[in-house]
Amino acid sequence: MRLGVNVDHIATLREARKGREPDPVQAAVLAELGGADGITVHLRGDRRHIKERDIEILGKTVTTHLNVEMAATEEMATLMLSLLPHQVTLVAERREEITTEGGLDAVINQSHLQNYIQSFHSAGIKVSLFIDPDKEQIRAAHRIGVKAIEINTTKFSEAGDRDAAMNELVKLKEVAKFAGKLGLETIAGHGLNYRNILLFRQIPEVTEVNIGHSIIARAAFVGLERAVREMKALLSLPSPLYE
Ligand code: PXP
Repeated sequence: MRLGVNVDHIATLREARKGREPDPVQAAVLAELGGADGITVHLRGDRRHIKERDIEILGKTVTTHLNVEMAATEEMATLMLSLLPHQVTLVAERREEITTEGGLDAVINQSHLQNYIQSFHSAGIKVSLFIDPDKEQIRAAHRIGVKAIEINTTKFSEAGDRDAAMNELVKLKEVAKFAGKLGLETIAGHGLNYRNILLFRQIPEVTEVNIGHSIIARAAFVGLERAVREMKALLSLPSPLYE
C-alpha cells in the first residue's frame, strides 16, 4: 500500500502567523525522505492553508507524485491546467467546514464531472474522485470515466469500538473489491492514524492511502521524516499478524 502524505497542516501552522514558516515545500522534502510515495495538498477556495505558490514550487520539487485535492470549479480547472500536478482529486468543499466532511456526490454531479475531467485527461493529469463507500457512487465514478477513486474512510476512522470498526472495514473491503472489478484504482483516506491503519491495511484492493492530520500531529513530537517512516513501517507489516 502506497502512502500519500498530506502536508496541508504545515501550511495551517504557517497561516496561524501569516508568515513564511513552516513551509509545506520543506515538509514535502522531509516526507519524501521518510519514504512517502506521494505528496497531497488541498487548494481550497478560501486559501486557508495551501496557496498557489506552494503548488507551483511543489510541482518543481516533488520527486514522487503530486496530488492536488480541489473542488470541481472553473477557477481550479484553470489553475491546475497551468500548474500541471500529476493528479487532481475532486472533493466536495464547504466554506464553513473544518475538514472535508463527506464524499463528492458523483451520481448527482455525473454530467458536470463527465465534462469537467476531459481537459485534465487531455493534459495528462490523472483524476480521482473522493466519494463515500457506496456502490452507486462507484458505478457513477466509473461512468464518469475517472481512473481512480478515493474512498472516504471517515466512518471507519470514527467508529466507537472495534466491532463498529470491523463492520465498517467489511463494507470498505466490499466496495474496494467492487471498484476493482470495474477497473478503478482504489485509494482511501480521511481520519486514518497509527492505530486504525493496522486494521485498514488489510484491504488488498486499496493501493494507496492519503494521510495528513495524524502524521503531522506526530511530527510535532518526533519530526516529520520519522513520523512518515513509522507510518510506512506499519503499512509494510505482514498482514496475518493483525487478522
Ligand atoms: N483525503 C481527502 C480527500 C481529504 O480531504 C483529506 C483531508 O484533507 C485526507 C484524505 C486526509 O485526511 P486526514 O488529515 O484526516 O488524514
